[in-house]
Amino acid sequence: MKLVLAITGASGVIYGKRLLEVLRNKNVDTHLVISQAAEKIIAHELGTTKKSLEKLANHVYGVNDWSSPIVSGSFKTDAMVIAPCSMKTLAGIANGFAENVILRAADVALKEKRKLILVPRETPLNTIHLRNMLDLANQGVIIVPAMPAYYHKPKSIEALVDFVVGRVLDVLGIEHNLYRSWQEIQTT
Ligand SMILES: Cc1cc2nc3c(=O)[nH]c(=O)nc-3n(C[C@H](O)[C@H](O)[C@H](O)COP(=O)(O)O)c2cc1C
Repeated sequence: MKLVLAITGASGVIYGKRLLEVLRNKNVDTHLVISQAAEKIIAHELGTTKKSLEKLANHVYGVNDWSSPIVSGSFKTDAMVIAPCSMKTLAGIANGFAENVILRAADVALKEKRKLILVPRETPLNTIHLRNMLDLANQGVIIVPAMPAYYHKPKSIEALVDFVVGRVLDVLGIEHNLYRSWQEIQTT
């Protein structure tokens, strides 16, 4: 599988990092772009650098590097995930405002009818956020909010993160054991 992964400047950059770690062991060819806002939040929330996350990907592109292959529909990919996805990036995608490589790659995913998965993180949501999400869902975009469940009784932040990352893998059709499903919990 060839996957475009973007990390944007919402809180929860740990979701993007964890996704990269998991995909490394899943035979997925990852094409990573990290926004400028995300770079600052990576430093603040994870105490690490953009470079350390980039080391986990197979290919890395600059957010303003228009020579990146992912800005073109002729570069065939299977899916794109934006985790976390800021409300600004979500608004840009919903309105076809492809002014950086992340927004353009998402625009490409939409026009080529490829799987596009967004992991938005914001609270509370205003009607602009909600309308943008509805417009995107109507276009076939899969919205996986950074909203962990608690029925698997998470004991750590990592377990909460793994639930959301696991749901993204479920949508991608990649097997994993990042969280125990309700069915597994009931039968064990
Ligand atoms: C510490 C910090 C946390 C932020 N958290 C969020 C957030 O959770 N959700 C969101 O939509 N924007 C959040 N923002 C605002 C975005 O970073 C800002 O809108 C930025 O322009 C997004 O750009 P990008 O989508 O290109 O990364 C945050 C900003 C900072 C500095």
